[in-house]
Amino acid sequence: MSLTTPASVRAAPLSGVLGAEISGVDLSVDLSDEQFAAIHQAFLDHHVLVFRAQELTPEAQMRFGQRFGELDCHPFVEGRSDHPEVLEIITEPDDRLNFGGGWHTDVTFLAEPDLGSILYGVELPTYGGDTLFANQVAAYEALSDTMKSMLDGLTATHSAEMQYGAGGTSTQSKAMKPNETDPAAFEVSHPVVRTHPETGQRALYVNAGFTTRINNMKRDESAALLKFLLKHAVKERFTCRLRWEQGTLVMWDNRAVQHHALFDYAGQRRHVRRITVKGDVPA
Ligand code: SIN
Repeated sequence: MSLTTPASVRAAPLSGVLGAEISGVDLSVDLSDEQFAAIHQAFLDHHVLVFRAQELTPEAQMRFGQRFGELDCHPFVEGRSDHPEVLEIITEPDDRLNFGGGWHTDVTFLAEPDLGSILYGVELPTYGGDTLFANQVAAYEALSDTMKSMLDGLTATHSAEMQYGAGGTSTQSKAMKPNETDPAAFEVSHPVVRTHPETGQRALYVNAGFTTRINNMKRDESAALLKFLLKHAVKERFTCRLRWEQGTLVMWDNRAVQHHALFDYAGQRRHVRRITVKGDVPA
């Protein structure tokens, strides 16, 4: 199915449950307000947008991101020296871990986690290196009413320690430099189910990368519930898969999806360029 918007921006769904490939747009030039409105609506409708064959400088990528809001700097990884908001995410051929491997939602250890993330494919392996996305609105809606009412009002703790503390997995590529920030200082509580501030949709908001426990429960109760929710949230039927090409740009809504950068291309280099847009307090 292909949906045509008034601005001739076309959106072709990537799977039955989320994601769309957008055509009819060149992101290297400034978007008209009409084009941006169509892209913004597609972003709210599909949660993950993919644009192919784009030729983007870091500045052009930033201009696109700034249409959605103010850009953020990563708390633990050095950005580019000319644009600290821009992260060059590189896996070298002999790296043993990749950045963003494992299901997660970006920076949920912040009080105001990023609204969205925008990645541009600079150099891709000849095979593998896909990114998976899971729709957390669909995952929430698939729960029983009994489970939904139990989750209502619950909060969970999110911490930076697992990924960015000593032995953490996210800053181990030789090409990426951790900065001096102490991850132990980053621990916050968020609702287990959040309401999307623009669509009003309810979405599950726990993730294996950063959520450490459900608050106000015994340790074994919290562990059992979290285990169930983390497994449920990323069931295949809630997902779509992005196969990268050089020049692909993807933007996803961290308020509605989790993602997972697969690491199945050992021996090859992968380089994507990331920016993020600041978000609000999850409610
Ligand atoms: C990330 O989690 O931002 C990285 C995703 C990817 O490299 O595909």
